[in-house]
This record gives sequence, C-alpha cells and structure tokens, in this order.
Amino acid sequence: MSHPAKVIAVTVAAAVGGLLFGFDTAVINGAVDAIGGDFNLSAGVLGFTVAITLLGCAIGAWFAGQLADRIGRKTVMVSAAVLFAANSIGSAWAFSVWDLMLWRLIGGLAIGTASVIAPGYIAEVAPAKWRGALGSVQQLAITLGIFAALLSDAFLANTAGSAFNELWWGMAAWRWMLLVGVFPAIVYGLLALTIPESPQYLVRKNRDPEAARVLRDITGVRDTDKKIAEIRASFEHEERATYADLRGSMLGLKPILWVGMAIAALQQLVGINAIFYYSTTLWQSVGFSESDSFTTSVITSVVNVLMTIVAIAFVDRVGRRKLLMVGSVGMFIGLLAATVSFFQADDSSGEILLPQPWGAIALIGANLFVVFFAATWGPVMWVTLGEIFPNSIRSLALGLSTMVNWIFNFIVTLSFPWVSENFGLWIMYAIFTIFAVVSFWFVKTKLPELSGRELEEDRDKL
Ligand code: GLC
Repeated sequence: MSHPAKVIAVTVAAAVGGLLFGFDTAVINGAVDAIGGDFNLSAGVLGFTVAITLLGCAIGAWFAGQLADRIGRKTVMVSAAVLFAANSIGSAWAFSVWDLMLWRLIGGLAIGTASVIAPGYIAEVAPAKWRGALGSVQQLAITLGIFAALLSDAFLANTAGSAFNELWWGMAAWRWMLLVGVFPAIVYGLLALTIPESPQYLVRKNRDPEAARVLRDITGVRDTDKKIAEIRASFEHEERATYADLRGSMLGLKPILWVGMAIAALQQLVGINAIFYYSTTLWQSVGFSESDSFTTSVITSVVNVLMTIVAIAFVDRVGRRKLLMVGSVGMFIGLLAATVSFFQADDSSGEILLPQPWGAIALIGANLFVVFFAATWGPVMWVTLGEIFPNSIRSLALGLSTMVNWIFNFIVTLSFPWVSENFGLWIMYAIFTIFAVVSFWFVKTKLPELSGRELEEDRDKL
C-alpha cells in the first residue's frame, strides 16, 4: 500500500471508535420506552438510566487521556473495544435497572475513551496537510453510528411489532437493540490490534526505529531523523506529562487549555444533542405523527452524515477558523428561527403544539442548524482538540477538554426536558442561540489557525 492509502486505512480503523460512539449514544432512543415499561420505572429513574452513560463518558475521557501516555494509544483502543462489547452484552441481558445502569456506565467509559483516543491518534499519524480531513473522518463515523442505531432500532422494533415484544430466543426487541453494538465492538478491537503505535508515543518511549518506520510508511515523512529530533525536542521532559505540566498563567492553567475546554463546551452549548436525543418529541410538537416524526429524524441524521463530507472537503483548504465562524453564523440563523417559532407554541393542553406556518419554520430552522453544525462545529471541534495542544501535554489536555465536552452534553441533556417543561421550549432555544453568538466571538478572538501547521511547532508563537 502507498502511504496515502495506509494513512487512510489506520484513520478508518481508529474512527471505528467514533462509529461506536455514535451508535451507543443513540441506540437507547428506540429502547427507552420499553425499558421503562419492562422495569416499571418512573420518569426520573428512566432519565437517569439514559443519562448515566454521559457521566461514564466524562470519566472515561478523563482516564483515557492519562492512559494514552502510559500504556499507549493502541492498548487504550483495544481496552475500549472490550468495554464496548461488555456493555452491549451486559445491557442486553440486564436483570434489573440497577445492573442496566452499571453496564451503561461501563459503556460510557468506552465511549469516553474512544472519543479521546481517535482525534489524538489520527492527528499524530496524519500528515499536516490532510490532518483536518482525516480528523473529520471520526465525526463522519460518529454520524454514521447515530444513523445506524436509528435504522437498527426501527428494524428490530418493526420485526417484533414493538420494542416491548419478544423477538428471537425469547428476548425482547429492546434487548436485541442493545446487543447489536457487540459486532462493531469486535471489529474495532481487531482493527486496533493491527494498527501501529503513533510516532509521538514511540519517540517518547525511545522506540525510534519503529517511530521512523511509521513516519515514513504512514505519515509520508522523508527525513525521519529530523522529524524524530523535532518530536523529541517538543517534549518538555522524557517521562509522560503530569497534571503539574498543565499549570499556567491563566487562573492556574495554561491558556491553551482554556481555549480547548471552551471550544469543547461551546460545541455542546449550541444544543445539538437536544435535537438528536429528543427528536421525536420535537417533531411531534411541530405537528407530525409518530411515524412522520421518525422519518424526519432519519432525514435529519442523513443530513448530519452528508454535511460532514463538506467539512472533509474544506477543512484543510479553507481553514478551521473560517469554517467555524461560518458555522456559527448559520447555526445562529437556524436557532433563531426555531426560537421564534417555539415562542408561538400553544402549550395550554400540556403538550406543545405549533400553529402553522411556525411549525414549518421550526422544522426548517432546526435542520438548517444541523446542516451548519455538521459541516463545521461537529467535526472541526474534534479536529481542533486533536491538534491544538503541544506534544508534551497533548493526551492529558485532550482528555480533560473531552471530559468538559461530555459534562456539558450531560448538563444540556438533563436540563432540556425540565427547562422546556417549566419555562417553555423557546427558552432553551434562546439559550442555544446566545451560545451560537458566543461561539462566533470566541473563535474570532481566541482560536489560533492550525491548518497545515506541524504538531511540533511552538504553540506560543501561533
Ligand atoms: C459531535 C458531538 C456529539 C454529537 C454529534 C452529532 O460529535 O460531539 O455530542 O452527538 O456531533 O453528530
């Protein structure tokens, strides 16, 4: 294989972690009502059973950053694959809501781990000129995972008649929904075993000949001795980074760490998962029947996949900053349209219902938001987290910022139903709209352009 083919192959292998990330966060949608019914759960306990995965993700992200430097990127990926498989099997055979919660927490650890290791590893093996496009492959995999979960849930529910009904071997359809994830988990584990370690990890472990081979064959570097010397010089000390290395002049932390964490938080604060996790309720409020609202969710998730390809095409040519700023403007317009529409809602009957034309405007606005998110903030946030930190602290800082992303995901997901029920859906959308403005301002004033830059370049000089 030529070097471009090889770097694409290892990128795809690492991105299967993203596929599982998307699949395992979305698969619960089709199963949630049946789980509530089977275990006789109150809305609060059911909500927590769903959200506990996101907490697991935050914990997993935190540990993955540290482990990547200790045991290597590859071993971390294989461990994540084992946890993914354990979660699918354990959840499918859960006896009670308690062990289901435990398995979902374990699944969260796996998702969090994969979400840290894919951007970091891809950024490290990719040549600088394609780093944005290759990094975006992870988000493409995430969006495909969300789409696959939606289809798999629908197929199993239809085959059984409903998610409650028994399907094969006397097992309810919802259990099969959760079990399906075991297949991509096995594929992920096997692929992770075949890929090489990243050059940065190998140099840190003084495995220079192996690093030279990866740099030459995969990254396509000609002068590998020079590159290895640059990588070595970019570490402040040989041993792995510790939390002391994150200390700096801005509120106790290095300023670049704040930039990473803010980008991670903003990606969630514009409310993308309020659409992906609550789509059915949202579209029903627009006036759609249950089956039409499912079709709309499928369309939205296809839009999500397709628009990610736009980012792959443009991220290295146009640059990260421009793409993110265009994205913020587009998201703002979509979110504002949705906010104004939801403001017209009549919820006197206890259910939100939008009079026309506001229903149509809300639908268009929300999808416009998804279009712009998917082409910009969705992938570019992950690309940025992979490349923004200096080599010496990359894994640790990436783990920390990814944890922030999951914490904000958790906060938005948990507060969304509560705020919209008590204060109105439009308030939530107004908040998202404000964060779209903040996201524009933040990129414009704080984010350095990293397009085409080597990871070894001194970050303080950008
Ligand atoms: C990004 C977000 C994730 C979201 C997904 C939707 O990867 O980080 O939370 O679910 O995009 O495509």
